[in-house]
Amino acid sequence: MNLNIKDFEDQINTRRNYVNECLEQNLPPLNSYPPIIHEAMHYAVFNGGKRLRPIMVFEGALIAGIEKEKVIPTACALELIHSYSLVHDDLPSMDNDDFRRGKPTCHKVYGEANAILTGDALLTYAFQLIANNIAINGIQPLNVVRVIKEISSAAGSEGMIGGQVIDLDSEGKNINYDTLKTLHSLKTGELFRASLRAGAILGGLDNEKLDYLTTYANYFGLAFQITDDLLDVTGDQKTLGKPVGSDDKNNKTTYVSLFGIDKAKMLAEESVNTSIDNLKEFGKEADFLRNLAYFTLDRTK
Ligand code: IPE
Ligand code: IPE
Ligand code: MG
Ligand code: MG
Ligand code: MG
Repeated sequence: MNLNIKDFEDQINTRRNYVNECLEQNLPPLNSYPPIIHEAMHYAVFNGGKRLRPIMVFEGALIAGIEKEKVIPTACALELIHSYSLVHDDLPSMDNDDFRRGKPTCHKVYGEANAILTGDALLTYAFQLIANNIAINGIQPLNVVRVIKEISSAAGSEGMIGGQVIDLDSEGKNINYDTLKTLHSLKTGELFRASLRAGAILGGLDNEKLDYLTTYANYFGLAFQITDDLLDVTGDQKTLGKPVGSDDKNNKTTYVSLFGIDKAKMLAEESVNTSIDNLKEFGKEADFLRNLAYFTLDRTK
């Protein structure tokens, strides 16, 4: 498992390129009618995204022992849901940010109404894609239905949207550690959890192993959002592709505002260690997930 950063980057870039090819093939064509919305959907998806959620879907499938080709529609769907969440997260009525993935935000280019509709269209299209998984040989239709339930619940008011609501409601207030943990678990953890589980469920993984993957994803998601909070303070806008200082501007409570940089780093490290501990039941097939968690601590974007 002692991989150097260069080898890990090669591994993640191979996966990222594959996700990008899949997305190219699975979005409505750019010239579909009406063009403006399809152009805006492409704009919101094709940029410097790290593609971690679809990568998680593929890793879940790998661990369950099925070919990654069989979960392509669901992997793409997770990236569309994530991209939609970013388009809405950046809106003036939410975080009011002007840059995302190295480009002006969707509402800056297409206007606010079109950005709202772009998010709506991406979210809706995601479920149209997941339904396509039914037609893939070797995938049990019942498992597709399970995945639809998991993903809709993870993205909805008891999942990511719930987290975003707590996040907005907490602006300018002192929230306690438990509330912050819940906020992070919902706004960021839920989608990672659903991604890894979706790939594994489509591959028919047993419940005991699924539980370990779920706990890995919980702690990975937490560490990922703690580092997101850290990068909002210590990061470089050019590398990150989004503004630094957004949380401070909006008076958000984050791991950094609550604990300071050093303790936030320590908590991220603890969370990464716990995530990796939960992969003990797995062999080499989980090495990428172990490395992903490990290198999240030093990520710069
Ligand atoms: C940003 O997610 C929003 C969070 C949940 C922290 P990512 O850091 O995965 O964003 P992209 O997809 O790479 O742009
Ligand atoms: C957003 O969290 C999480 C989402 C569900 C979109 P942030 O507001 O911290 O994400 P960034 O920093 O803008 O990417
Ligand atoms: Mg936000
Ligand atoms: Mg934001
Ligand atoms: Mg952030």
